[in-house]
Amino acid sequence: MEKPIYLDYNATTPIDPDVINEMIPFIQSYFGNPSSSYSIGRENKGTINKARKQVATLINARPEEITFTSGGTESNNHAIRGSVIAGQEKGKHIITSSIEHPAVTNVCRHLTLQGWEITWLPVDKTGKVNPSDVESAIRPDTALITIMHSNNEIGTIQPIKEISEIAKHNNILLHSDAAQSVGKVDIDVKAIGVDLLSIAGHKLYAPKGIGALYIKQGVDIENLMYGAGQEEGVRPGTENVAQIVALGKACEIATNNIDINYRNMFDTREKLLEGLLRNLKNIKVNTNIDNSLPNTLSIAFDKIEAHTLTTLIGNEVLISTGSACHSGITEISSVLKAMNMDLLTAASTVRISTGKYTTEEEIDFAIEAISNAVLKLS
Ligand SMILES: Cc1ncc(COP(=O)(O)O)c(C=O)c1O
Repeated sequence: MEKPIYLDYNATTPIDPDVINEMIPFIQSYFGNPSSSYSIGRENKGTINKARKQVATLINARPEEITFTSGGTESNNHAIRGSVIAGQEKGKHIITSSIEHPAVTNVCRHLTLQGWEITWLPVDKTGKVNPSDVESAIRPDTALITIMHSNNEIGTIQPIKEISEIAKHNNILLHSDAAQSVGKVDIDVKAIGVDLLSIAGHKLYAPKGIGALYIKQGVDIENLMYGAGQEEGVRPGTENVAQIVALGKACEIATNNIDINYRNMFDTREKLLEGLLRNLKNIKVNTNIDNSLPNTLSIAFDKIEAHTLTTLIGNEVLISTGSACHSGITEISSVLKAMNMDLLTAASTVRISTGKYTTEEEIDFAIEAISNAVLKLS
């Protein structure tokens, strides 16, 4: 067993060795420009389209509805900026939630400088958006609803299907940031009814710096960049073939193993929680186990400062805090704040996230390491 034990899969995942093997030839040998007309170029075009199919299959989209991007941040920027600029004749109002990732909140904030108005919906104590709040927030000038599929800090899954019915009924586009969900839970874009959906490769065992945006057929969005006509002109720039191959392979592996990976993430999280509850008193479980990603556990240890805990166990187990520490000042996470969590609980919250490689042995070790550290600090 290699130490420290990695239990921060929501931050990023290691690259699957099969993904590495698949991409190596495209780094070492197959260097042709996919836009070239001779064979080493043309073949890479075919390779990209194979990857497009692999990504599409994972989320039940059509291949032509997938555009490759540099990751979750770009996909969110493109979906939000692109759709509201294209739809500005309808109006300049956007509905989002108060627990989105900065790759959504900061896009929305920036748009306010250019005349857009944002409604930030509240969430309940479990971090869930109430669909009826979405409905009440709709105005004649609402052009976009953007609500994440699942939350990166606490794992809450949002009622996207219910929200999409409201969006459709009111003829408003719906985007969902599914960076944390794709590969962990079943996503069927047709069944949940989204118009735009963001994917981040490094959350599903592909490398960092690659992602995809699902754009439902017929949905018109403005480009972020202009250049030559790659990606049907939607996202120009010579394609990052090796990374695209990697994302395709990662999606294929995720499609073929979705149930087994779900089970492993769920079981290891359950074992971890049971072990911690057995060893320690005064634990507050923030994650709603019944409506969350299978791997995510946000948990507070009463009166233990989260940064002190993660630093103390840093050589044994890698987990993250629910707050950011800048120059010694602890800033409470906006997600926990939006859930109306009191400051002390928020400051003692850690996020533990398991992955497809997490083993029972690692969990046994983590339970002991975390419990010992908490008892030491108590
Ligand atoms: C929910 C969510 N959205 C977007 C992103 C950004 O993705 P990327 O790191 O690929 O830009 C992340 C990454 O942490 C995330 O968790």
